[in-house]
Amino acid sequence: MSGARLEWRAQPARGPLRGVLRVPGDKSISHRAMMLGSLAEGSTEVSGFLEGEDTLATAAAFRAMGVRIDAEGGGKRIVHGVGLHGLRAPSAALDLGNSGTGMRLLAGILAGQAFGSELIGDASLSRRPMKRVIEPLARMGARIDSREGGLAPLRFAPAPAGLDGIEYQSPVASAQVKSCLLLAGLFARGLTTVNEPHRTRDHTERMLRAFGVQVQVAGNTASLRGGQRLLAASIAVPADISSAAFFAVAASIVPGSELLLEQVGINPLRDGILRALRLMGADITLVNPRVLGDEPVADLRVRHAPLRGIEVPEALVPDMIDEFPVLFAAAAVAQGTTVVRGAAELRVKESDRIAAMAAALRALGADIDETRDGAIIRGGRLTGGRIDSHGDHRIAMASAVAALVADGAVEIADCANVATSFPDFVGLAAATGFSLTEHAA
Ligand code: S3P
Repeated sequence: MSGARLEWRAQPARGPLRGVLRVPGDKSISHRAMMLGSLAEGSTEVSGFLEGEDTLATAAAFRAMGVRIDAEGGGKRIVHGVGLHGLRAPSAALDLGNSGTGMRLLAGILAGQAFGSELIGDASLSRRPMKRVIEPLARMGARIDSREGGLAPLRFAPAPAGLDGIEYQSPVASAQVKSCLLLAGLFARGLTTVNEPHRTRDHTERMLRAFGVQVQVAGNTASLRGGQRLLAASIAVPADISSAAFFAVAASIVPGSELLLEQVGINPLRDGILRALRLMGADITLVNPRVLGDEPVADLRVRHAPLRGIEVPEALVPDMIDEFPVLFAAAAVAQGTTVVRGAAELRVKESDRIAAMAAALRALGADIDETRDGAIIRGGRLTGGRIDSHGDHRIAMASAVAALVADGAVEIADCANVATSFPDFVGLAAATGFSLTEHAA
């Protein structure tokens, strides 16, 4: 996918960040819109779709299984659904690139098909744990082969006796595991129930309901009955809070800044970053909170405010799992110490995000200790330096945010993967006052 080596050069901010901006559409919701739209009867209109490599890979996978998806530009898609049993065998392996969500959620759908298929991904995705979906799917009757240790490529053969619903107690708080099993449950006999240790983002449950599927949710448990039809829906994708988070921290740490981030998804199972930043002293106001389609949104007004270190409440971790890289950056320039615990899942994301952020911030002189499941970050001043993003989009963007308040230039290597979630981050950042440029390495 992101073949070219790309580097960023970031200079400290020369003045306050200002502007009104709309970050791209939510990645989680965009993936789901392609998947459920494809399985529905009728044509689903999607607006605000993330035109990023991860979600484009998911759309391509469904096209390869016979779904017509019209791209009308500017985040508009029309997905001509083929119905629950209308997918066709792809003629080649489906390449999900860098996307864990794409691979794990598609695994649930492919496990229930009457044809065989194969899922592949890039080097990072091929290192990420897939056993967490293979095992419960196998219990439902699925036939899945993987590389040693439960790694991609994943090969699916038709389940000889079809799938049966199960009651699954997930050992990890993972919306991808939950969603995978609920999607497989659509193709299974009887009831599929997933219980998770902490509640995770519920975009799948909300969107399934928008497509007319009955989903029961009680506490940390979600369940559905197999065989339900999906009927085309209209899906409006909010701006991604995970992308907005970079600008929320940026405006918080650069003196005099004020940014208005439009139409950001504030699903209560995703907004942990706002709660954590407020505990640190951030000045974030929700302007005009409203509902967009199936999800709550608001415009976020973020003004500069001095940040202080906190112990991040463990209960917030699942609600802000993708925002830790930028939280680490905020903590490195806050007054006092920030402690993160209970976030071991960060080690199995697109990179080991605890190790990658500790190395990135240390390269700028920060005082940070890694722990097994988090970090202890003592806030202070940052210097210029050179950072390796490890090909992880969120490490690259979090590093660019830290660079705003460093006292020298920061070079960030291996940034092409930012296109997976936030194409034109550099352009939007520059428009608000970052001094950030990109060039071929
Ligand atoms: C996602 C769930 C989370 C998150 C990922 C997107 C989803 O992963 O980190 O970026 O869309 O369901 P886990 O399920 O591995 O926690």
